[in-house]
Amino acid sequence: MALCLVCGAPQETVLDFGAMPIANGFLTPDQFASEPLFPLCVGFCPACAMLQLTETVRREVMFNENYAFYSSTSTRMAAHFKSFADMVMADYLDADGMVVEIGSNDGIMLENFSRAGIRHLGIEPSANVAAAAAKKGVNTTVRFFDDSLADEILQEHGPVSAFLGANVMCHLPYINSVIAGIRRVLRPDGVLIFEDPYAGDIVRLTSYDQIYDEHSFYFSVTSVCRLFERHGMEVIDVIPQPVHGGSMRYVIGLRDARPRKPSVDAMLEKENAMGLDRIETYHRFRENVEKSRDQLMRLLDDLRRSGARVVGYGATSKSTTVITYCGITPEHLEFICDTTPIKQGKFSPGAHIPIKPTRDFSDRYPGHALLFAWNHAEEIMAKETAFRASGGRWIHYVPNVKVE
Ligand code: SAH
Ligand code: TMP
Ligand code: ZN
Repeated sequence: MALCLVCGAPQETVLDFGAMPIANGFLTPDQFASEPLFPLCVGFCPACAMLQLTETVRREVMFNENYAFYSSTSTRMAAHFKSFADMVMADYLDADGMVVEIGSNDGIMLENFSRAGIRHLGIEPSANVAAAAAKKGVNTTVRFFDDSLADEILQEHGPVSAFLGANVMCHLPYINSVIAGIRRVLRPDGVLIFEDPYAGDIVRLTSYDQIYDEHSFYFSVTSVCRLFERHGMEVIDVIPQPVHGGSMRYVIGLRDARPRKPSVDAMLEKENAMGLDRIETYHRFRENVEKSRDQLMRLLDDLRRSGARVVGYGATSKSTTVITYCGITPEHLEFICDTTPIKQGKFSPGAHIPIKPTRDFSDRYPGHALLFAWNHAEEIMAKETAFRASGGRWIHYVPNVKVE
């Protein structure tokens, strides 16, 4: 039986996806035979209301010099992180303040601080994306952050005013060590500000593809409040974000250091009404996921039988969960197009569907495109109007399976 990664109480199983490949493990044919698989299963801890994986993958297997996800592939996300940085500068930073970001990737957030001449440090263990950040003038150290790094940061940079993280706190199964380290480097009035995909949106939208190896946790305001209470810290503001299919931003200070905004209690009440702190909610979620899978496969099987050309759009890490769990094969999808150079020419994890540049899509439009990068739909629809005009149809699966 799996134990809660936060409090050690027994987890209750929510949804067992079976054997999965590494979500960002795009590979070449010579690697097919040795491709690693691991059990992907979601559980819920009734004691601290945390939705989480029951088994996690060793961090070096996922985050290394071949990490396939470059944050700056989305212009909309670049704009999002500029406004995140602007908010930090306006509300939480004085002139000589120090900013640290974990999971700084290719510098998409910190480049804004660098440009403004603010003292900053990115902590990013994946050497290839860290090198892209360094090229932009972002100070980056190629390391994993946890409590063991805290003293070094304090010695080199002094206490931290704003500790930031986007789409990374939920990646860290050793979360207690990470928070202990953050608490030690923060100034007494310092803040931790992070955002991650939000459990409330995952349940509401049946976006089960947010569940994959890198995401150890699916946070709610309820579970995050309980998590930080354990560390003498307090959630002082929560702000929903429209990115990545629905995220939540959390502002956290040391206990009683800063006033708590009404947003926190309002969201706790909302989550109570939604049942995010109760296992039954997640059992219903599982039923919806199974229905979604069956509908998508009925559609793709019909298209395959009719000989239609179907391609995938966006070789997202999320797509690995959909492809593997639903049983999508190269017979269903001719290829998946993606703008990331490191993914192109490789094959998708598990099903080994070829990954091609977006040119292959636009040079000869297929009849249907399955939108795996649905969290970037707005940006993609704006630039792909010619596909629809050619008679092409998009296949969506979040929040419901539909063709349009
Ligand atoms: N913040 C970026 C990147 C998110 S992907 C964005 O929102 O787009 C998560 C990143 O966290 C990866 O680049 C990964 O290499 C990094 N990471 C994983 N474990 C980490 C750790 N312990 N400390 C710092 N970064 C970590
Ligand atoms: P994400 O969902 O984890 O952000 O990954 C998005 C993936 O989609 C990434 O591999 C880049 C790709 N992509 C495109 O191919 N075209 C696009 O227009 C956008 C925004 C992303
Ligand atoms: Zn727990």
